[in-house]
Amino acid sequence: MSSDVTPTTTLVDGVPDTGKDAPRSDDDLAPPPDPAPCVVRVEGVGKCYHIYDRPQDRLKQAFFRWRRTYHREFWALRDVSFEVGRGEAVGIVGRNGSGKSTLLQIIAGTLTPTTGSVHVAGRVAALLELGSGFNHDFTGRENVYLNGAVLGLSKREIDDRFDAIAGFADIGDFLDQPVKTYSSGMLVRLAFAVQVQLEPDLLIVDEALAVGDALFQKRCYQRLEELRSGGVTILFVSHDQESVRTLTSRAVLLHHGSVRAMGTAAEVVLDYRRLLHDEERAYFQHAADRLRRPAPRPAPAVAPAVGADVDASHARSDRLSFGALEAEVVDVRVTGAHGEEKTLFYPGEPIRIEIACMLHRDLDHLNIAFRLRNKQGVKVTSWGTLNDDIRNWSRAEGRPATWDRSFRKGQVVRAVFEGPCILGPNLYEVQATVTQELDPHYKSQRILHWRDEAAFFHTGQSAAQYSFGGVCDLGLATTASVEPAPSAPSEGARAR
Ligand SMILES: Nc1ncnc2c1ncn2[C@@H]1O[C@H](COP(=O)(O)OP(=O)(O)OP(=O)(O)O)[C@@H](O)[C@H]1O
Ligand SMILES: [Mg+2]
Repeated sequence: MSSDVTPTTTLVDGVPDTGKDAPRSDDDLAPPPDPAPCVVRVEGVGKCYHIYDRPQDRLKQAFFRWRRTYHREFWALRDVSFEVGRGEAVGIVGRNGSGKSTLLQIIAGTLTPTTGSVHVAGRVAALLELGSGFNHDFTGRENVYLNGAVLGLSKREIDDRFDAIAGFADIGDFLDQPVKTYSSGMLVRLAFAVQVQLEPDLLIVDEALAVGDALFQKRCYQRLEELRSGGVTILFVSHDQESVRTLTSRAVLLHHGSVRAMGTAAEVVLDYRRLLHDEERAYFQHAADRLRRPAPRPAPAVAPAVGADVDASHARSDRLSFGALEAEVVDVRVTGAHGEEKTLFYPGEPIRIEIACMLHRDLDHLNIAFRLRNKQGVKVTSWGTLNDDIRNWSRAEGRPATWDRSFRKGQVVRAVFEGPCILGPNLYEVQATVTQELDPHYKSQRILHWRDEAAFFHTGQSAAQYSFGGVCDLGLATTASVEPAPSAPSEGARAR
């Protein structure tokens, strides 16, 4: 495992092909499973809205339908095509207004596409806009029956599911109050509880879970995971990139109504991050240019203070990385205590992660950091030199902080993170980053270089060493003590 784990590293059966022997399970030898039957097929879908500048234009258009046009066309979606198989969870990401909700509504059948077609096999349950599908004057209980009936369930079938729905929603006596008195969190609890109990073939979730509290969200994600493993297909829209990476295996990135990227959730989330980064950068560049330009006459072109060349980031970054590239992650190694390269770690063994960055200009306030993700995409930890600086400051240890140092163009800054490996058995990906933190508490960040799949390693457990369950070993001190057994009551005591 070394710097030569470049972005071209390929994954073979989910294991990075580093040219070295990696532990393989029996599953690796199994034939590939048959492709899942298609549950959703979206073909060339477009949605055009007519935009009227004034309300009277709408009326005029109705009268002079064939003679004049009083509206502009706005395409919220253009030529969107993809398929989703049974039991697949697919995330849809994109900026506000990119067309995510429009697409979900078309798939749910509540909106008609202007072009193209959607085919869905089976029963669809959808959590779209908050409170949609509820009659707000009815109680929660009445709405459960109303929703069930709309989705084709008999009263008996809803009776059978009612306790499970009420139990999941967990809103107590409010179940018998009109829905209009509910908070948004309560609304989404009830809506989610109803939809997931209807045994759908396709479950569509549009952003809704964000309004639930943390415990409810945890239960929802668990439930979504159960549904997916039970064969339910899930389409999931969220601005929370972590949830998309964790919950879904594939994703689609929409941009201005068109598909900008499609692929594994990890790839698409990275594309989305890159898009946000590029747009943010362009915005600040534009703002900085405007501020620098003296009124009223534009000044001659001034070299920008940061991000010297926007195109450079595109030209030099590759599929797995992005950033302003004023500093570059050039080497990432995962090693044992003495710097020896390793790909497999057992509980408690020392592990070192070493990240080297080349500076392409003088820089200060640097933070060299990494994230570890397991095979399921869960971010197991993220840590960087700034986290270490903050910890030192809080403990008043007086060690020099990386954040306080200034570095020169051409220097290579190397950060080493080391400690015992406390991770449960899995495959881990190292994402390495170098950022400039203009504020020491992560409030203002510029991404100089972000590199996905910068390195990989495995952890295992063996009978010869100790083992533990779950995702990590907390290293707990453990004691077992014995309390004397209660003595049997005496004859006299029993008589009293
Ligand atoms: N009824 C409508 N008439 C005109 N334009 C509409 C209508 N509904 C949606 N739009 C436009 O379509 C575009 C896509 O909207 P949509 O709600 O699908 O975006 P989104 O990706 O879900 O955004 P968000 O992340 O904010 O939820 C937006 O520009 C929106 O203004
Ligand atoms: Mg939306």
